Amino acid sequence: MSKFPEQDGADRAAAEIPDPLDADAVAAAVERALADIASAADLEELKAARITHTGEKSALSLANRGIGGLAKEQKAAAGKNIGPARGRISQALAARVVELETERDARILVEEAVDVTAAPRRRRAGARHPLSTLQERVSDVFVGMGWEIAEGPELESEWFNFDALNFAPDHPAREMQDTFFVEPPGAHLVLRTHTSPVQVRSMLERELPIYVLCPGKVFRTDELDATHTPVFHQFEGLAIDRGLTMADLVGTLDHFTQQLFGAEAKVRLRPNYFPFTEPSAELDVWHPGAKGGPQWIEWGGCGMVNPNVLRAAGIDPEIYSGFAFGMGIERALMFRNEVSDMRDIIEGDIRFSEHFGMEI
Ligand code: PHE
Repeated sequence: MSKFPEQDGADRAAAEIPDPLDADAVAAAVERALADIASAADLEELKAARITHTGEKSALSLANRGIGGLAKEQKAAAGKNIGPARGRISQALAARVVELETERDARILVEEAVDVTAAPRRRRAGARHPLSTLQERVSDVFVGMGWEIAEGPELESEWFNFDALNFAPDHPAREMQDTFFVEPPGAHLVLRTHTSPVQVRSMLERELPIYVLCPGKVFRTDELDATHTPVFHQFEGLAIDRGLTMADLVGTLDHFTQQLFGAEAKVRLRPNYFPFTEPSAELDVWHPGAKGGPQWIEWGGCGMVNPNVLRAAGIDPEIYSGFAFGMGIERALMFRNEVSDMRDIIEGDIRFSEHFGMEI
């Protein structure tokens, strides 16, 4: 027996009200009660058994009430018959309560136990992407020299990306950089192909002299492979002041590369062409810690700001001169930290980032 719906149980017990003088009938009622008490599986069931067998409508309570109607000389006998019977049931209830409470407490101890020695579930801390940390490190070197950080939009007007940088409309140099043009064509918007448009924006927006570094994303229609990605990062440097020469450019880059690659690092310039610098140069860095031994590594472009670009920004090239440079951050990460496949950098696998730690 498991449950005693209160009313049904009481009715069932009441249906068998023993005669207060009938010892066998009273004993049978006690047996029924003891059986229900013994089989109560938890405190809820025991409560139902208590109501059934000791409640106001229980067989023995009703029998007990019947004593009042008996003849005087029968009352004592009936009382002796029923009193101890009810006592046995009360005792059985009290004993079973203790048992069931002990069981419940033991069960709670097991169910709610806390294993203080259990290994905690670890939450991985994650790691900043090495491109971000390297970009910050580059910025720090220039901030340390008193330069400012400049930013420009990634969705850039063609004018800033090309025209103001002295790319003539039909100049083949426009084809040097495979460009994502953005619809509609009449809007003349492109995803910037380099960070050089920030040169022009800086010259238009800032007071002279200017010393700015602009790190940021750039876009070219390259297929993704081990050495190319259509989205990558560059940093652009621009200095405009009175009397700046190529020697200032080389001195700045020497200092910068030493900070990044060690005291023996230096730069080497090889003649090249960019429409926005004149003279222009390809920039190699002497990397003392290179994997295959110290060596020159091609890294970016640089030059003296073309007077046409200064004029486009309203700066008098007779009074001011400037230098500029632009380098790739992915490329630096590859040769500085021995990453052989570009795809590892952009895949977003946290194991790659974790390998670099928080500082590179
Ligand atoms: N913007 C050029 C490029 O992306 C690099 C460069 C920057 C060259 C500044 C000269 C001066 O190829």
